[in-house]
Amino acid sequence: MSEQMTSSQIRLIQNTSETERCARMMANTDPWITLGRDFAACLQSILHPDKEVYIAVGEGDDGDEIAGLLVLNMHGAFVGYLQSICVAPHWQNRGVGTRLIAFAEERIFRDVPNVFLCVSSFNPDARRLYERLGYELIGEIKDFMMAGYSEFLLRKTLGPTAGYPRR
Ligand SMILES: CC(C)(COP(=O)(O)OP(=O)(O)OC[C@H]1O[C@@H](n2cnc3c(N)ncnc32)[C@H](O)[C@@H]1OP(=O)(O)O)[C@@H](O)C(=O)NCCC(=O)NCCS
Repeated sequence: MSEQMTSSQIRLIQNTSETERCARMMANTDPWITLGRDFAACLQSILHPDKEVYIAVGEGDDGDEIAGLLVLNMHGAFVGYLQSICVAPHWQNRGVGTRLIAFAEERIFRDVPNVFLCVSSFNPDARRLYERLGYELIGEIKDFMMAGYSEFLLRKTLGPTAGYPRR
């Protein structure tokens, strides 16, 4: 097991170069490959003004590199939506995703008591991680992104929205 991430290595995305590298990483990774989300579509989803985008920076052979990406949406029907999480292939299974999810929860739970996310039916490995971290199935959205596949809506909650955040 390699060195684990710390929260100080997660920060807001800063510039066009980082944004493009993240969009490229997503577009070259499942589930976005299977879902047909190309570079332009991934870039657009990151650049949308409603999104908060963070990266995990890790030490690579040639200096700091982007180890993972986290896209949050604090607007819309499901406030506190973890829209995308993507860890670079050679950083996977080293705790980066777990750290990014913990970071997302810390951020979202400051404002609302729910973290929502979707996971594709063809991605059982990611679903297993979410369930291990306390996410529960809310529902199955059949044929949502692609015919023959479902998106599972998951939630981790601290309680009802009424009266939250408690002062
Ligand atoms: C899913 C993902 C964010 C997890 O981050 P990570 O840093 O690899 O995970 P951690 O080291 O914190 O935890 C390991 C767990 O992640 C999951 N995981 C690992 N590699 C994975 C992969 N390629 N795809 C999906 N899930 C994976 C497994 O549940 C694993 O636990 P296990 O020991 O039970 O197999 C990351 O692997 C990834 O970006 N995968 C590709 C993109 C993706 O599936 N994103 C999620 C879309 S909903």
